[in-house]
Amino acid sequence: MLNMLLLMYTKLSSCLIPLPVDGEGNLQSWPMPWPDRLTSTPPSLSTDSNAAEMFFKDTKHWSQLVSHVYRDGLSINWSSVRNVMDMNAGYAGFATALIDLPVWVMNIVPIDMPDTLTTIFDRGLIGLYHDWCESLNTYPRTYDFVHASFVFKHLEQRCDIVNVVVEIDRILRAEGYLVVQDSMEIINKVGPLLRSLHWSVTLYQNQFLVGKKSFWRPRP
Ligand SMILES: *[C@@H]1O[C@H](CO)[C@@H](O)[C@H](O)[C@H]1NC(C)=O
Repeated sequence: MLNMLLLMYTKLSSCLIPLPVDGEGNLQSWPMPWPDRLTSTPPSLSTDSNAAEMFFKDTKHWSQLVSHVYRDGLSINWSSVRNVMDMNAGYAGFATALIDLPVWVMNIVPIDMPDTLTTIFDRGLIGLYHDWCESLNTYPRTYDFVHASFVFKHLEQRCDIVNVVVEIDRILRAEGYLVVQDSMEIINKVGPLLRSLHWSVTLYQNQFLVGKKSFWRPRP
């Protein structure tokens, strides 16, 4: 039994990103120390200037959206949030914008989105690849806040979003929040599913759905 378990693991060293070296194999530079690495150009980013520009634009976009909308505009009690999951993290701009809050953020890079996981690690943050058409191994945390920014449209072509919503309901603790940023078409599908699971649902600016999972229990 133990042997079988061991076979499922792969040595991590091949997953580590090599440090930049010059033509002779000498180390060029160490990664920036924390917290500078969070906001400086990630070494893994493509070297064309466009990539860096997009990266900084993304950081700024999330910083503004979080301070104008997520922190103040959505009636979320951030004091009750400890662990956050970003279902479609991109460069982890959302996690970066939350850095001054005492929260832990798991950044998920969906398999049908551009591969940004190396950049997330470069920034000193944590992340995973995942296919949201499958269930998620939530170890080692439970979650108080799930962020779903434009995740459902891609999934709809491959699986039933009922299953994805049910999985979110499983992941999130009672009284926890889900924020869906998406088109009204998607919000109109997700909202009724959440209500059917006894969540409260509020819409902001026709693009943010805030769902709060209730402490509902079936009658004995
Ligand atoms: C926000 O959450 C904290 C921690 O659970 C709680 O003590 C506080 O009363 C809540 N504030 C509001 C306005 O509900």
